[in-house]
Amino acid sequence: MNLSNLFIKKEIEKILLTDREKPLNRVLGPINLTLIGIGGIIGAGIFVLTGQAAAMYAGPAIVISFIISAIGCAFAGLCYAEFASMIPIAGSAYTYSYATMGELFAWIIGWDLILEYLFGASTVAVGWSGYVVSFLKDLGIHIPQTLSTAPLAYGKEGWYTTGAIINLPAVFIIAVVTSILVIGIKESANFNNIIVFIKVMVIILFIVFGFAYVNKNNWFPFIPPNTGHFGEYGISGILRGAGVIFFAYIGFDAVSTAAQEAKNPQKDMPIGIMMSLLISTLLYILVALVLTGIVNYKELNVPDPIAVGINAAGEGLKWLRPLIKLGAIAGLSSVILVLILGQPRIFYAMANDGLLPSYFGKVHQRFKTPYITTIITGIVASILAGFFPISILGEMVSIGTLFAFTLVCIGIIILRKTDPNRPRAFKTPFVPYIPILGALISLLQMFSLPPATWFRLLIWLGIGLFIYFIYGINNSRLRKT
Ligand code: ALA
Repeated sequence: MNLSNLFIKKEIEKILLTDREKPLNRVLGPINLTLIGIGGIIGAGIFVLTGQAAAMYAGPAIVISFIISAIGCAFAGLCYAEFASMIPIAGSAYTYSYATMGELFAWIIGWDLILEYLFGASTVAVGWSGYVVSFLKDLGIHIPQTLSTAPLAYGKEGWYTTGAIINLPAVFIIAVVTSILVIGIKESANFNNIIVFIKVMVIILFIVFGFAYVNKNNWFPFIPPNTGHFGEYGISGILRGAGVIFFAYIGFDAVSTAAQEAKNPQKDMPIGIMMSLLISTLLYILVALVLTGIVNYKELNVPDPIAVGINAAGEGLKWLRPLIKLGAIAGLSSVILVLILGQPRIFYAMANDGLLPSYFGKVHQRFKTPYITTIITGIVASILAGFFPISILGEMVSIGTLFAFTLVCIGIIILRKTDPNRPRAFKTPFVPYIPILGALISLLQMFSLPPATWFRLLIWLGIGLFIYFIYGINNSRLRKT
């Protein structure tokens, strides 16, 4: 094993060559890219976590938590936008780290991104299954628990079996989106456009019609007094709320994994990343305001807070009830689609660099998609979602994503120093302040997560390093040249 050159950097010119050697289909314009971003962002976070975060941590001030988290994401988003327009290659943060911090960091971040994309897709698929089972039940169709929950569970005593066989709906949705993703990026974008339209319409209906039922008394006190424990209301509650609902923003960075399929990445990558973040933030703030206005925050600690909000409004909003479930199902479907879109493109970039077997980098002749990695991602995600208890994975998804954000922000500062003259179609403003703040806010949110999550992150990265030292280090194309 040759331990020299662990931090070898890949020149940007070389990175850009991938596009000529193994091109993907450049068909996406600014609207499709923005909708891919919204598709990845709006999902379980707003439909599930908002209520819990308001009830347990922030009260109506969850609105402020949403704003704080959005600011952190916007800073990281500006850094992603600069990189994605300058290096429009599928690997996202993995590729940017290769150019700025070298191979070992690139590998670590590529491995880390599995937490965001693959584990994220599995987590959201389980949420999707819950909503679909409940929706079908309303229609009189009963799916037995043995076929809609995981057979394995983990508790204080360790692993045990639940008596269930498989979470079939979760496996089903992953199989459907994986098939669409194999068939083509254009087809996937069209499918995404339709479901994004449905979920955004439902959210707008909730905001517009829900507003009439707001009881302003529910907004007071806007920041409930702290109970004496860190994170239970007050300012610290707002911060903890921000850490929890960060999950709701994950997905805008997935736009950058589609950079190699954008018609005009220099201009459209920044638009896709920033517009999707902006639109989602506005919708989130309005939903949080209306929700905590219709119903007292204390009643929102439920898995379906928006449905509870509608019920609280009484008969007047009854017509909206089935639509909300439909909106949530649509929302969660597009998140799964976008996350399973992102993962294979990162694997594809890693395989092209020799850090994963080259077979992974194959592009389908007719469909022009990285189909091998798409299918592998789909299979692993359905095994995770179908058989394993994944409740603990939600926090892993957040910590993994925040880690990537931190490195991307630092990467911008490094590249401005090491390669100041490279043309940048989009420049992050106020460098180094915005990247430093972006990295600091991401780190702060990482520290607000429980120690067990850190421990799991370290174990995960340890496994990754082990694989690098037995495979990647010997097969890296860059180290061989
Ligand atoms: N932001 C995505 C969601 O909330 C991951 O489901």
